[in-house]
Amino acid sequence: MNYSRNIAGLQPSATLQLTARAAELTRQGRSIIALSAGQPDFPSPPAAREAAVRAMEQGRTGYTPTAGIPELREAVASATSRRRGIEFKPAEVVVSCGAKHSLANLLMAVINPGDRVLIPLPYWVSYPEMVRLAGGQPVYPGSGRSLITAADVEEAAASGVSGVILNSPGNPSGCVYTPAEARELADALAATRMWVISDDIYEDLVFTGSAAPHILDFRPELRERAVIVSGVSKTFAMTGWRIGWAVAPVDWAKLAIRVQEHTTSNPCSISQWASLAVVSGAAEGERRSMLAAFASRRDLICSLLSGIPGMSFPRPEGAFYVFAGYPPSIGLSSAGLCGLLLDEEGLAVIPGSAFGVENRLRLSFAASDGDIRGGVERLSSFLAKRGIR
Ligand SMILES: Cc1ncc(COP(=O)(O)O)c(C=O)c1O
Repeated sequence: MNYSRNIAGLQPSATLQLTARAAELTRQGRSIIALSAGQPDFPSPPAAREAAVRAMEQGRTGYTPTAGIPELREAVASATSRRRGIEFKPAEVVVSCGAKHSLANLLMAVINPGDRVLIPLPYWVSYPEMVRLAGGQPVYPGSGRSLITAADVEEAAASGVSGVILNSPGNPSGCVYTPAEARELADALAATRMWVISDDIYEDLVFTGSAAPHILDFRPELRERAVIVSGVSKTFAMTGWRIGWAVAPVDWAKLAIRVQEHTTSNPCSISQWASLAVVSGAAEGERRSMLAAFASRRDLICSLLSGIPGMSFPRPEGAFYVFAGYPPSIGLSSAGLCGLLLDEEGLAVIPGSAFGVENRLRLSFAASDGDIRGGVERLSSFLAKRGIR
């Protein structure tokens, strides 16, 4: 059989694979601590569950319009308008099966064969593969910063790069733009013709006490070639419901809808009604208490990790990951280290190589205090056995 060379060349998702392997070992009875998952460990809010039950009982179980039920498009448009202080219309909203699906549709709608797309380094695992899948070529910034900078954009534009994916708060870095960085970046983008996808899936998980600064706050005119991507997965602990969205210029939205029309059709009708409840504000209490829990876990994991010699990391200001460098003297690649940590210590964490960077580990603090303590203890004990103490 000859399979597609394009698809055969795609890398499997290291995060999903490692999470699956940890789950398999747990099923076999091993004591596994997973600091690997990219999802909140809280139940979905009652308002979402109740709205889903109501939707089923009311027979809202058929196809919906491809881009989502009008009520949800309307609610997303007004929530995004309030957040950004710019008016967005429901016609600019496309609801998809998770933010991942939104990103895939948008990239397919905008990339021409060979187009180059600037993505952050470290990157979220799916960005390079999605760009390739759409026929493009990922390019990485030279600045060595975790978030795309104004200088990265200037350099990319000068060499003919077509578009850029931004991600603040970032996965895996946990970094968030300062207002000055976001302003400079917005100015730099405004001076180019590059399209922009701002992946804002962690926009509600920010520990600085204020909202994450955004390019549209400084240069609202960028909306003509910029898309906001977000969803309910991380904010409302609703990863399995698979609802995300794009708020895009109408022409780009129409093409993304066309891609969706011929691939998946609408996202799950029941999940859309559940999402409508939380986007309309029915789970604000849960949202706030989950944020407070993540902030305190961030403090806990940072203080525990700082006690291990040779571990270095930027203190995350958003999302729920620490991207930590480990002492190179251990002589292991990040994948090698993660394999041994899982096999010998029963600790699941994700290797930096999955995000394009070596000698780092991503530890998720979307886990209980007990698991965070136990997990860091296992890491510390592994390193101590190899002389790092
Ligand atoms: C940076 C980033 N973007 C997008 C997604 C996808 O989110 P969803 O579960 O809504 O598809 C994730 C999930 O891990 C993510 O970390």
